[in-house]
Amino acid sequence: MDDKIVLTGIKPTGIPHLGNYVGALKPLIEMANNHKTYIFIADLHALNLIKDAKLIKQYSYEIAAMMIALGLNLDNAVLFRQSDILGIYQLSNFLMNVTPKGLMNRAHSYKAIVEKNTETGVDIDSGVNMGLYTYPILMAADILLYNSDIVPVGADQKQHVEFARDIAGYFNNTYGNVFKLPEPVIGESNGIIPGLDGRKMSKSYDNTIPVFAPESELKKKIMRIITDSKTPEESKDPDTSTIFQLYKQFATVEETEQFRQMFVVGGMGYGTAKNILFEKINSVLSEPRKEYERLMANKNEIDAILQNGAERARIVADKTIMKVKKVMLG
Ligand code: TRP
Repeated sequence: MDDKIVLTGIKPTGIPHLGNYVGALKPLIEMANNHKTYIFIADLHALNLIKDAKLIKQYSYEIAAMMIALGLNLDNAVLFRQSDILGIYQLSNFLMNVTPKGLMNRAHSYKAIVEKNTETGVDIDSGVNMGLYTYPILMAADILLYNSDIVPVGADQKQHVEFARDIAGYFNNTYGNVFKLPEPVIGESNGIIPGLDGRKMSKSYDNTIPVFAPESELKKKIMRIITDSKTPEESKDPDTSTIFQLYKQFATVEETEQFRQMFVVGGMGYGTAKNILFEKINSVLSEPRKEYERLMANKNEIDAILQNGAERARIVADKTIMKVKKVMLG
């Protein structure tokens, strides 16, 4: 266990799929085995998009239950709801005052909307609320509130972590050395998991497999994976096969090698290969799935864990706020 503090937020805007599992959740759970880790459900970050409280709450439970069911080490990991910590509202407000507006103008997600608005000839800020515009400041506050060293994120969030570093730097230049400078860690396997149609697994392509899809749905989805039209006898290329690419994320090195051979030598039809893939994924996920379903039927257990997490998070958050208030306001 080294003493680096790991932190990340998961936005409750949908049900996590196997791409999220392999690229983000699984590595995070592994990291939490030997690091002090803060994992929060970034419900405040969902607000600029989702205007339905019930939906945010439901997604939040799903994410929490999923992390617990997947075996997150709750001694090392502090699991909580972002909105339960008052310090987050305070710190993001404080940080507004050292953050140049121009920095926000450069945010990829904001710029993409501005470009689209420009193309379609509407006001450049059409559809942009201040939650979206100041999203990077809230995220910087998340990162700085808990003295994070390492922030594992997908590639699409790298710029936001760099902004958090910039904002910490502006703050430290003005008020002295208050904040550590966080480092982004980009998930290695992020984006390399293929979806049912062979393109990258992504919600926007509608080609995903939810992590805890019930067994029958999991099977149905796997059977729908698109393949080429090779006959069972023919030799097949594992490296371009979605079936093989998914399999290797769940199997041991030896199993993967064996499966590779079965592709190469021929004699295995894609139907058989899909069955093998289904059995493999199901064997890894069926126990956690049961625990997930149990937790979702006992939300008070999830609440208790999140409350305990919030209490632990608050201790650190309060200290940061005290320090910040002192240097900014005396
Ligand atoms: N913005 C991140 C996302 O969309 C979620 C997030 C919020 C986050 N706060 C964070 C990630 C702090 C890392 C650190 O996925």
